[in-house]
Amino acid sequence: MESATPHTPKPQVDHAPVITIDGPAGAGKGTIAALLATQLDWHLLDSGAIYRVAGLMTMRHALALDDEPAIMSLLKTLDVQFFQGKVFVNQEDISLAIRDPACSSVTSKIAALPAIRSALLARQRAFRRAPGLIADGRDMGTVVFPDATLKIFLTASPEVRGERRYKQLSEQGISANLAHLIKEIAARDKRDAERAAAPLRPADEAVYIDSSRLQPEQVLATINSQLSAANATRT
Ligand code: CDP
Repeated sequence: MESATPHTPKPQVDHAPVITIDGPAGAGKGTIAALLATQLDWHLLDSGAIYRVAGLMTMRHALALDDEPAIMSLLKTLDVQFFQGKVFVNQEDISLAIRDPACSSVTSKIAALPAIRSALLARQRAFRRAPGLIADGRDMGTVVFPDATLKIFLTASPEVRGERRYKQLSEQGISANLAHLIKEIAARDKRDAERAAAPLRPADEAVYIDSSRLQPEQVLATINSQLSAANATRT
């Protein structure tokens, strides 16, 4: 899953500042991460998209979801590009396909495999470049960027998360059933939180935000005040 085109960040050690946004499915991480990246003019890492590519290709090749060696071999053959908010695998635009709920479910199963997680670690860290990075996922603050400047754990009630995801999928033209979606999200969150490798959990120092009754601008305002406080203690 490597690529050498100009669009993919090159692996390198960089100490640019990072803000991590972790949390369960449908909490609004992607929306907030994108708003924050635009506001600060920083880079953006949607780590879920990287896992989803692996999930989609595992499905397409009909691999057993616990066959770590086969999935690892498959990942090595993929040319993955992230470009202007879209995801390409071997030149095919798979941006919509990876959002399908069936892919979400498979993704969380293979994301529990330790070798897969280790293989994707360097690729995620390579997104860290000046002037800074907003990283969205499950283990951004705990495992991938433990030295982040600010760590956010964003959540919302299961009903609100289900409804947000339903609306998001409808807008993308992906059909879904709300009741099934709420169940799929609950099963996925349970799996993500209970796995041994990099489980979904807030970092010790994370700022916990429940966005159930908040508009994106209000979440952003909370993060901005935390960021000012974090920057003030550094200077
Ligand atoms: O958008 P949503 O929150 O529903 O999911 P996502 O962030 O695209 O992640 C899809 C799945 O990938 C999650 O349910 C996790 O199983 C896995 N994932 C992970 O294990 N670690 C990450 N850093 C990001 C995603």
